[in-house]
Amino acid sequence: MCGISGIISNANIAKKLLDSIQNLEYRGYDSCGMAILNSHGPIIRKNIGHVADVAEKELFLSMNGNTGIAHTRWATHGGVTPVNAHPHANCDGSIAVVHNGIISNYVKLREMLTKKRHTFLSETDSEVIPHLIEEYRKGGMPLESAFVAALKDIEGSYAVAMVAYEKPWKIFCGKHESPLIIGLGKNENYIGSDFNAFIEFTKEAVVMDDGEYAIVSNEGYAVKKIVNGAPVLKKVMHVEWDAEMSKKGGFPHYMLKEIYEQPETVKKALSISDASIQMLAQNVVSAERTYLTGVGTTFYAAQLGQYYFASEAGINVPAVSSDEFLENSAMAKGDFVLAVSQSGETYDTLRVLREAKNRKIRTAAIVNVIGSTMARLVDDVVMQGSGPEICVISTKAALAQVIILIRTALEAGVITGKLRVSEKKQKIKQLEALPQQISDFLNEHSGFVHNLAERQAHHHNWLFLGRGKYYPIALEAALKVKEVAYLHAEGMPAGFLKHGTIALIDDNLRSLVFIPSEKEEALYKMTMSAVEEINARGGKVIGIHSSKTFAKSKLLADQLLLPPAPPLVMPLMALVASQLFSYFLATTLDRNVDKPRALAKSVTVA
Ligand code: F6R
Repeated sequence: MCGISGIISNANIAKKLLDSIQNLEYRGYDSCGMAILNSHGPIIRKNIGHVADVAEKELFLSMNGNTGIAHTRWATHGGVTPVNAHPHANCDGSIAVVHNGIISNYVKLREMLTKKRHTFLSETDSEVIPHLIEEYRKGGMPLESAFVAALKDIEGSYAVAMVAYEKPWKIFCGKHESPLIIGLGKNENYIGSDFNAFIEFTKEAVVMDDGEYAIVSNEGYAVKKIVNGAPVLKKVMHVEWDAEMSKKGGFPHYMLKEIYEQPETVKKALSISDASIQMLAQNVVSAERTYLTGVGTTFYAAQLGQYYFASEAGINVPAVSSDEFLENSAMAKGDFVLAVSQSGETYDTLRVLREAKNRKIRTAAIVNVIGSTMARLVDDVVMQGSGPEICVISTKAALAQVIILIRTALEAGVITGKLRVSEKKQKIKQLEALPQQISDFLNEHSGFVHNLAERQAHHHNWLFLGRGKYYPIALEAALKVKEVAYLHAEGMPAGFLKHGTIALIDDNLRSLVFIPSEKEEALYKMTMSAVEEINARGGKVIGIHSSKTFAKSKLLADQLLLPPAPPLVMPLMALVASQLFSYFLATTLDRNVDKPRALAKSVTVA
């Protein structure tokens, strides 16, 4: 999971190529590099660090040429070092290659090539590619055939792009299980791991499928099958996202911008056609068993969905984290798998869907990225329409996914008879009021959240507790704090605490508890038991709640008061509040908010 891009143009491409990897940086950002062809062959400049720093250090903008490729890396094979950064070259430096994915048989290939006197400079799996191509060229194969032969040799996942001295007006690229898209401009064309690579330059794009390779020039492109070279006719897509949507628009960070975009993303999720939601609901209800799946934040979104299917439709729809799915769930014909994914490229979730397809099981996905592998793999796709999510930390996309799952649960409730149509309509009205409530909260309460974060940021150990729907919220809130503020936060059901973890409670551990309103009496009382238990052991509770009377309670060491909302949407308000809390913890601690250490936006490896 790295970002690759390429540009071929009748003008100098250096600035645009740099912009393109800058726009892909959220896919990985430990090192980067560019290769631009000049009359001597590809000139490669690369180093470790963020794109802007490397660009300055390596003088990317002083490069000059019409054809080039670039890469921004999230290390898998080989440490973060300048030589491991891409592009990689062959022995004589006439070929440069960038790669996203993992080559599972690279050790064998490297041994074979080393015996044939190829010299490797890096520890990466990717470096075998230019050497393989070189080896085939030495045997007399034309460049295109050598490129394809190399692709046939490599096992695993790849999106690969190559430029070569002998064909200065061509970019060769190919893909298997890692995304690759061609952008179509005027007198110039582009390739990229996703639309953000060229969103500033064109909205016309062609999405490549597994097993395809392409030759791109400044005047056109040809897509062919890797297996036999047969030409493939591709549909040109018009991408709705525009460059403005990918900019910070006055916000200091994408994370904050995307949190503030949530009223809009909720509206978008609510405007998805009833027919699409009914289709999902019908599949859920009529399947033998339905599984929800996703991983990380999208697993928590799925888990929240599970609670809504139970409360609104009276059905058990287990959410299973996709990284563990195949090992712990016995899906069989007649089942239905509904996946949730922002990127549509996550390896763990794709693995589940591919296996479901093998077993002839019906699949669907709620996905944000248009043209993504998942969107094209499943039987039915619901595009969530949240717009580009640039911050590595997912916020707006996750909330939109939950809205879609709640709508599906309500629809399923009507089918199962748990809900009357009038009740469903009333609940939809509550969802429709949410954008305004979120907006008001963000505008009126963000100062309080900021102050709370500043008061609490010096605490390094946290428990995040919630019951019922607030349990997945607690898990998600804890994940946000870990990834963006680098604080230890453990999410847990509030009822689970007394079964062991309570031993940790002392004056140093902070417990953030999501407290439902008194209207949800049983849940409220059970959550309050945990609050009492923590206090009884000298622990400090920070409450996120909506009760003005409770605000005076001595049981709370600190608190965040939410505006009142119906029980259906209250957990979502708590979710937004916790996103903002993690954001301000991170800014207080001076963290790299949009690109936290060690993370990448889409995790396309096992
Ligand atoms: C957390 C986060 C990750 C992703 C996870 C799945 O903020 O972004 O946990 O949710 O890697 O990614 P998608 O949704 O792209 O499948």
